Amino acid sequence: MPGFLDGEDLSPNAIERARQASGEYIDLTSSNPTHQGLLFPDDVLREASAAYWANRRYDPDPRGLYAARLAIAQYYAERAPALSLHADQIVITASTSEAYSLLFALLTDPGDNVLAPAITYPLFEYLAMAHQIELRPYALDERRGWRIDPTSLRLQADERTRAVLVVSPHNPTGAVLASRAPVLHALDLPIICDEVFAAFPYRAATVPPVGALYPELPVFHLNGISKMFALPDLKLGWIALNDAAHDRFGERLEVLNDTFLSANALTQTMLPAIFEHGRAFTAAMHERIRQSLDMAIALLSGCDVVRVHPPDGGYYLFPEIVGWGDEEALILYLLKHGVLVHPGYFYGYEQGAHVVVSCLVAPSQLREGIERMVAALSAWVSARDSSS
Ligand SMILES: Cc1ncc(COP(=O)(O)O)c(C=O)c1O
Repeated sequence: MPGFLDGEDLSPNAIERARQASGEYIDLTSSNPTHQGLLFPDDVLREASAAYWANRRYDPDPRGLYAARLAIAQYYAERAPALSLHADQIVITASTSEAYSLLFALLTDPGDNVLAPAITYPLFEYLAMAHQIELRPYALDERRGWRIDPTSLRLQADERTRAVLVVSPHNPTGAVLASRAPVLHALDLPIICDEVFAAFPYRAATVPPVGALYPELPVFHLNGISKMFALPDLKLGWIALNDAAHDRFGERLEVLNDTFLSANALTQTMLPAIFEHGRAFTAAMHERIRQSLDMAIALLSGCDVVRVHPPDGGYYLFPEIVGWGDEEALILYLLKHGVLVHPGYFYGYEQGAHVVVSCLVAPSQLREGIERMVAALSAWVSARDSSS
């Protein structure tokens, strides 16, 4: 019987089996803020929800609660550079993942394709499969700070390409699309820009909303409260359409969102207060991430076989372990030494041996995990050198 993942082997892979069998280890793959001591203040949430309980009434709006959309539009007015949006240019969803699904339904028919970064958080392939579209990978150039490779992007487009997917800051490389890349203008396709890590610039001074860089192209910005306010459990995301996207696609997207109305009224009612009173929390989280990245980069740079590129933004590091061949063997070796990281191939990158380290992990655990990693790699180098 055909259908989603029909015939695929869904049993645990070798790394997952080793993890389950392993004793104590430090998990440097975790990016769940509620597991890492990053809890959005309770009192703000309680107070924000009080308005809902005081006046409970279901008045669904196909684009989402007006007051919540207004708060999101205000957030774009404060970005650098500012992006001026009307509340009607915002569509509220239950998550960024759901927003992708709506946009694939909006922009494509089965058999069409969307261009997506070759290295990526493993989410898009399932969404693409669910919509029976093809994801065509474009290369990111490691030597140029993981910038989009314009030739690769151009070569992947054909007459069935319906959009380009850009992640800025990118997960896991941390690259930010900081200025206009001429190739995106030349392709003249709608851009889906995932900016869930925009609140956390590191090397970059700011993360520009891509719709401000390309006013002539339809741009859909995807974001939500799961990363920005460490509230993945409250399930609220959005799509912000620049003028060109709103003019061409706004009405149809409204009908599509009205078909599901998945975002719950409670969280939507809370959103203006979350924006108003949550900024200090986000600023403190940003500072913790910055210090964690500083510490992790300094420790990793002390190891000869680790090549680490400081990210423009986000909270991941994607270092290369120079001279190591088999990535899966590397992950199993590190797990034996008490630290779990993800391999680059989970993210679709198979050149050289890379690992993904989440710097959202609580700082003391992060330090110890990286120290274990550096010690294990140093032991490997000594053993290799003494046997040659
Ligand atoms: C690049 C990227 N986009 C989207 C998501 C999912 O976001 P949400 O929780 O809003 O569905 C993630 C989650 O890690 C992510 O890394």
